[in-house]
Amino acid sequence: MIKDVILSDLLIELKDKPNRLKHVLGVRDTALEFGKKFNLDLDILETAALLHDITKYYTLNQNKEIIDRYFGDTKKIYECYNENILHAFSAYVIAKEEYNITDGEILNSILNHTIGRANMSMYEKVIFISDYTEPNRTYKSCVKVRKIAETNLDKAVFTAIDDSIKFYEKDDGLIPLIAYEARHYYRKLLEVQHD
Ligand SMILES: [Fe+2]
Ligand SMILES: [Fe+2]
Repeated sequence: MIKDVILSDLLIELKDKPNRLKHVLGVRDTALEFGKKFNLDLDILETAALLHDITKYYTLNQNKEIIDRYFGDTKKIYECYNENILHAFSAYVIAKEEYNITDGEILNSILNHTIGRANMSMYEKVIFISDYTEPNRTYKSCVKVRKIAETNLDKAVFTAIDDSIKFYEKDDGLIPLIAYEARHYYRKLLEVQHD
């Protein structure tokens, strides 16, 4: 199984990064819990979780090399996304090219795990929220979102995006338009849910 190959690669790649390995396995376990609850394909979730941070420790140049080679309008990518987010793009490419992943749910879940997007699939939402709330995450917002996710996944997604935007706004950080679009989308969705 491809997920066994990925896991053994991860164990080698992260042998000096025990906390990152714990995080990845935490995302996997959290995603599998959600998967059982929502009756999703657990192989898809496990594979996406194991791959989501596979390029986290690539240098900026390594990430850019992969992104430049694969994506068309890279100028736009670099203008819109800060360096911390680029690993999601390169992980998407590595998943395709090195692990021959073709499943769109896996690929989109990897690509959108950092800031989310409007109208995510259940798989994308589960990976996004599992990344934000896995048990090793202890920030206030993560604890809050973990609690909300027990009863309302869309509200958890909205809150995670909203808190992230506020955090980076305070920091004067670069916030991609897609984050504002996603927040707007989930805010509207929650309004409809309340009606
Ligand atoms: Fe990540
Ligand atoms: Fe992560």
